Amino acid sequence: MIKVITYGTFDLFHEGHYRLLERAKALGDYLIVGVTTEEYDQTRGKLNVMDALMTRIENVRKTGFADEIIIEESPGQKFRDIKKYQVDIFTVGSDWTGQFDYLKDYCQVIYLERTKNISSTMLRIQNKHIQRIGIIGTGRIAGRFIPEAKLVSGISVEAVYNPHVESALHFAGRWGIEFCKTLEEFYALVDAVYIASPHETHYAYIKSALAHGKHVLCEKPMVLKKDQARELFVEAKERGLVLFEGIKTAYCPGFSRLMGVACSGMIGNVRNVEACFTKLEDPKNRELTDLRYGGSLLELGSYVMLPIIKLFGHEPEEIRFDSIPGENGLDIFTKAYFKYPNGMGTATCGLGVKSEGQLIISGTKGYIIAEAPWWKTAYFEVHYEDPTVVEKFSDRFLDSGLRYEITDFLSTINGSSKNEFKLTHRDSEVMAGVMERFMETEGR
Ligand code: CTP
Repeated sequence: MIKVITYGTFDLFHEGHYRLLERAKALGDYLIVGVTTEEYDQTRGKLNVMDALMTRIENVRKTGFADEIIIEESPGQKFRDIKKYQVDIFTVGSDWTGQFDYLKDYCQVIYLERTKNISSTMLRIQNKHIQRIGIIGTGRIAGRFIPEAKLVSGISVEAVYNPHVESALHFAGRWGIEFCKTLEEFYALVDAVYIASPHETHYAYIKSALAHGKHVLCEKPMVLKKDQARELFVEAKERGLVLFEGIKTAYCPGFSRLMGVACSGMIGNVRNVEACFTKLEDPKNRELTDLRYGGSLLELGSYVMLPIIKLFGHEPEEIRFDSIPGENGLDIFTKAYFKYPNGMGTATCGLGVKSEGQLIISGTKGYIIAEAPWWKTAYFEVHYEDPTVVEKFSDRFLDSGLRYEITDFLSTINGSSKNEFKLTHRDSEVMAGVMERFMETEGR
C-alpha cells in the first residue's frame, strides 16, 4: 500500500485545494491530510485565517479524498509524521518547490502544479475590503511596520507622509509606496493611518486623521494628556472610527496569557507588580536630547505601566515618581510608584542606567516572573513557596511583534474583534494621565 501525505491550511476551501487533494490521492492508495491549527498558522505569519479549524477539516473531509485527517500544530511535525505513519510520498503544491527537499531522505517528495488564479489569500481579499494604510513618520519604527503589515492579509501599506520631504522621499523609495507632499494628498490614498511621528505631534495628527474619516493606529505614548486622550476617543467613536494606541506588548499572545494567569487565582490575589525596562540610548539621540518630550518615562513608561494598570485598574490612590537626571536634566532613570487599596506597583525605566529588566507579579500564593525582554512576552514562570514547584509558560513573539497589534486593529475595523480588553480606552487615558503628572512634576 502506498501512503501519501500532504498538508495545508485549506482556508475558504477552493478549487485549488480540491485539485491538489484529488491528485495527491491518485499518487497512492492511502491519503493523509494534515490541517494546520490557527496557532501554528499565526507563528508562520498567516494571521487572518477565516475558517475555524473544524470547518477546514470538514471541508477536506467532504472531498472524499482523505483517508485520514490529522492536525498540524508545530514546525518539525512533518518529519515526525512521515516516520510515524510510514509515509511513502510527501506532496504539496508547486508554490513550495524546493522547500521540502530535506524530506527526500525519508520518502519521495512530489511538488504538484499549483492551480492558477486562485488562493485563500485572494478570496480573503475579495471577501473583505482591503484597508489601505498610510504611515506618518519615517523613523525606525515606521520601517519595522511595513514588513509586519505585509504579514497581515487585508491590509496594504500605500503611502507615507512626513513634512521632512527628503526623509519621506527616501522612505517611499525604499518601500515602494507613494510619497505624498501634503496631508490632503495622503488622506486621499488611504483608509487608515499609522502614526509613528514624534510624541508631541500625535495629538494634532490623530485629530486631523479622524477629521478626514480615517481610522488611526498611533504609536505609544498616544498622547501626553488625559483630557486629550478622552477627547480623541470620544471623537473617534462619534465618527464611527477606530482609534488604537499601539503598545505592542498589550497585543502579543504571550502577554495576554500572562495576564490570564495572573488573574486566574494561580498566584492568589495579586498584591505587588514590579516592571522594569531599560535600554541604553545614545546620548545624542532625540530620546535623550529633547528636553521637553524626551527621557525614560515618556519613552518606555507605556510598557512598564501596562501590567500595573491592567492588574490593579484605573484608580490608584497615589502615584509618585523618583528620577535620576542626566547632565541636561532629562530623566535617564525613573521609578513610578503606584499605590492601590489592595496592592502596589513599581514601574521602572531607564535610558541611561542599565538594570535587570524583569516583570514580577507577586500574589498571596505565589509569583510570576518574566525575564527581559518580557515586553515581547515569550516565556514566563510561576513560582510558589515550595521552590521545587515551577510552572512554565511559553508563547511565540515573532520579529518586532507589530503584526499582533496590526491584526487586532484590522479586525476591530472589520467589526470582528473581541479584543478590546487587551488595551482599553480607559487604560490609554490613565497612562496619558500619568505622563501628564510626570511632566508637571518635572516642570516641563
Ligand atoms: N494549492 C494549489 N493551488 C492553489 C492554491 C493552493 O495547489 N491555487 C495547494 C497548496 O500548494 C498546498 C495546498 O493547496 O499544497 C494547501 O494550500 P493552502 O496554503 O491552504 O492554500 P492557499 O490558497 O495557497 O492559501 P494562502 O493564500 O493562505 O497561502
